[in-house]
Amino acid sequence: MSDVAEQRNYNLRDEIKAYWSERAATFDLSPGHEIFSEEERAAWHRLIRRHLGEGAGRTALDLASGTGVVSQLLDDLGFRVTGLDWAEPMLERARNKARERRRKISFRLGDAENTMEPDDHYDAVVNRHLVWTLVDPAAAFAEWLRVLKPGGMLLIVDGDFVNTNALERLFSKLGAWGQRAGLLKADTPSGSREMMETHRSILSRVHFSRGARAEDVADLLRKTGFVDIQIDTDLNEIHRTQAKNWNVFKALARKSQHRYAIRASKPSN
Ligand SMILES: C[S@@+](CC[C@H](N)C(=O)[O-])C[C@H]1O[C@@H](n2cnc3c(N)ncnc32)[C@H](O)[C@@H]1O
Repeated sequence: MSDVAEQRNYNLRDEIKAYWSERAATFDLSPGHEIFSEEERAAWHRLIRRHLGEGAGRTALDLASGTGVVSQLLDDLGFRVTGLDWAEPMLERARNKARERRRKISFRLGDAENTMEPDDHYDAVVNRHLVWTLVDPAAAFAEWLRVLKPGGMLLIVDGDFVNTNALERLFSKLGAWGQRAGLLKADTPSGSREMMETHRSILSRVHFSRGARAEDVADLLRKTGFVDIQIDTDLNEIHRTQAKNWNVFKALARKSQHRYAIRASKPSN
């Protein structure tokens, strides 16, 4: 293929894939991605249990599994887990971690909008921090409904990373000032300046470019055919345990963000 044709065929999905492939090397260094305490792990377990119950050998598909953090939480709870991600470097890390921790989790390459999984197959479909970056969430939600068994459950954990409220802005400014003055613990860098610019550019072109508000995500799930939709904004316990990794203003800024879990079901036959 000529360079020009190749350039033309390189689309937003390729950009997103390339971005996460590059982020894979440092992804687990960030609190909020990997889990750094048993206290935090227990808080995540409680959130998942609250919505999905114990795994008890049921099947779960962790979409956009990244380095496998959520897959491992599901495995802890007794689900039989398949993780799917379209960035090979993420999958490589997920597989290595699972091997080191002696977990039987199967990780495979695939697109969350077109999983190639069979119809009516999974008891649960789960994803964390995927919805905000979907190019076509309507297609993705229809796909997730298709692969769930009748009565199966979807659990989304996500947030609005675009709209900031006054409190969050204030805390972020104070945090930045404190770090510059050497008074506060520095944030874990989330990539080079160029990577941060790529992130901004991607975010400006995805479906939820104005922010993935829980109500909008829930509306789209309803239109797709999901039922019993519940929005849960009580992630305080998780945020409290994560806060120990950050300076006080970073922790307060994060707590002020619109972050949520949404649970929804596929109708029973
Ligand atoms: C912010 S990371 C979240 C990873 C993981 N869910 C977690 O919470 O630790 C986003 C992940 O989504 C993956 N991703 C984004 N869009 C995807 C898609 N359409 N299909 C599969 N993976 C996707 C990226 O490759 C990346 O690993």
